[in-house]
Amino acid sequence: MRIDIITIFPGMFEPILNESIIKRAQAGNKVKINIYDLREYTSDRHRKVDDRPFGGGSGMVICAQPIFKVVEEIKRKAQKAKGKVKTILLCPQGKTFSQKIAKKLAKEKHLILICGHYEGIDERVRKNLADEEISIGDYVLTGGELPAMVLTDALVRLIPGVLGDKNSLNFESFEGNLLEYPQYTRPADFRGQEVPAVLLSGDHKKIEEWRSSQALKRTRQRRPDLLKSIRNKKGKSKNG
Ligand SMILES: C[S@@+](CC[C@H](N)C(=O)[O-])C[C@H]1O[C@@H](n2cnc3c(N)ncnc32)[C@H](O)[C@@H]1O
Repeated sequence: MRIDIITIFPGMFEPILNESIIKRAQAGNKVKINIYDLREYTSDRHRKVDDRPFGGGSGMVICAQPIFKVVEEIKRKAQKAKGKVKTILLCPQGKTFSQKIAKKLAKEKHLILICGHYEGIDERVRKNLADEEISIGDYVLTGGELPAMVLTDALVRLIPGVLGDKNSLNFESFEGNLLEYPQYTRPADFRGQEVPAVLLSGDHKKIEEWRSSQALKRTRQRRPDLLKSIRNKKGKSKNG
């Protein structure tokens, strides 16, 4: 997979790309992540990438010109290599990001992520370049850099072979619309709080049953909406 990120603050990505699992995934050629500094693509001689909004109002808007230039350049090169590219605009007005969307996007070969800043981006970018608009939640951040990092992190760990143990994806929260069961590690007794005896029993069937029931209990307590969507899905498939 290849992820191209377009930003006016390329330095923000360094700590994320050079640590932990994302760093390992790049080193192991599971993903190639490129950061494009938007200022390198502006036709303005002072490297300006933004301007005042037409019609007045506060703040600055990122201009269409440098974004068109960099996206077209990336796509031209990808076309030569016969690659398919999906362009995503990070935007608080977009579809809310979820594990389901992450799984879908993790199957793409090549993504372009466009980070806005200030008051946002010229509407013509949204209309002409964005295949999808994604929000990471109902709140407004100063820029699309953190959302782009959130997407990148969520996608990279889904690429086959990135996480050491392939089972670690199977039982995670949101798999099968359930939250994960409680996890414990050594010591078995910490300040008088003991690990549930079943986890020390060595009986794998019992452990699995306990985990399933805990996952269900947790989901019922914390996210009953997830269970509702399982019931709705079951109802739909029964009714054809
Ligand atoms: C301050 S925001 C612009 C908000 C815009 N004026 C509005 O009201 O919709 C600047 C940039 O941050 C990014 N951004 C902010 N909040 C976001 C969110 N919840 N999800 C994804 N991107 C977000 C977008 O790229 C956006 O263009």
